[in-house]
Amino acid sequence: SKGGYRHYMLKEIHEQPYAVSMTLSSLSENIEYIDSVVKLIAKADRVIITGAGTSFHAGYIAALLLNRYADIFVLPIISSEAMWWMNSVGEKDIVIAISQSGETIDTLKAVREARRRGALTIAISNVLDSTIPRESDIALYTNAGPEIGVAATKTFTAQVVLLSYLAINVARYRNTLRESEAIEYINSLKNLPTQIRNVLNIYEARIASIANEIRDKQNAFFLGRGLGLPLSMEGALKLKEIAYIHAEAYPAGESKHGPIALVEEGFPTIFTIASSVEGELIRSNIEEMKARGSMTIAVYPKNLEDIEKLVRISIKMPIANDFTVGALYIVPHQLLAYYTSVKRGFDPDKPRNLAKTVTVF
Ligand code: M6R
Repeated sequence: SKGGYRHYMLKEIHEQPYAVSMTLSSLSENIEYIDSVVKLIAKADRVIITGAGTSFHAGYIAALLLNRYADIFVLPIISSEAMWWMNSVGEKDIVIAISQSGETIDTLKAVREARRRGALTIAISNVLDSTIPRESDIALYTNAGPEIGVAATKTFTAQVVLLSYLAINVARYRNTLRESEAIEYINSLKNLPTQIRNVLNIYEARIASIANEIRDKQNAFFLGRGLGLPLSMEGALKLKEIAYIHAEAYPAGESKHGPIALVEEGFPTIFTIASSVEGELIRSNIEEMKARGSMTIAVYPKNLEDIEKLVRISIKMPIANDFTVGALYIVPHQLLAYYTSVKRGFDPDKPRNLAKTVTVF
């Protein structure tokens, strides 16, 4: 049942604090097994992370975290493209396949190809004993509870939390992260359910009113750097799939190499800034868009006070670290897509042309 919510999607957005705590408790219940998986990843020569749609975006975040904190070469690849990148994959490599349903054919094919080449395969899924975990060497589960809405929400946050937990521990094992820092980061994951609940309480009404500003738009850019990029990709995907607004995510720095030609008076550009380092680099990109009359919106940490004066609509978020920012800063994007869809008169639970699980190649 929808438990009093108008749509499953809204219910599942609100279930995120609970989903994250379920993921965290299942990780601590299986600590020895998780530890053995961490050690395998820590010893890999190279890691490929693959998935489709939202699962790919969670994988992209994990790739950035493993590169940055554990000094491992990690390549994120969309699963339907993975076959073109597997030529040199071998026994010392690990392929992590992420799939909420565990049935996405593109991702399954990537797993089969990786295994054929001798790589160790690790599946991350929300559905127990689904095909991808069954066919992989190792299976990890997000345990976020069933997701009915076609738009993935709580399973994304659960994936990000599971992958963050792995990344912290891989870094700890490789001695690229100090023990005290690792403990701090793990504790910050434990605070996420409360933080997500606060974000939902504080922002829901405001985001619903921001949806009025974009409901009649036909296009939008989602721009970010670093961790802000996969969050932008996920925000754009949500807006496309349930609100049917053409939304394109771009690396903010790349936007001036072509996409900016589209920007005219009122064209929405939505910036996602995950940290102050990203903030430093992105200011000029915001200025460029503003100079062309763009309707600028920014999701950013509240300590970057000057961003407020720079943009038309500011969504000031609690300060997060690299391991918590994904699960936290995606919430306004999910709400924006949801309310825009509803205000445009669509049913976000039944997006046209889409099925929850895609089993055609
Ligand atoms: O079940 P999976 O995680 O493998 O599904 C992958 C994509 O089909 C899925 O994330 C899709 O993009 C969602 N509808 C996004 O909301």
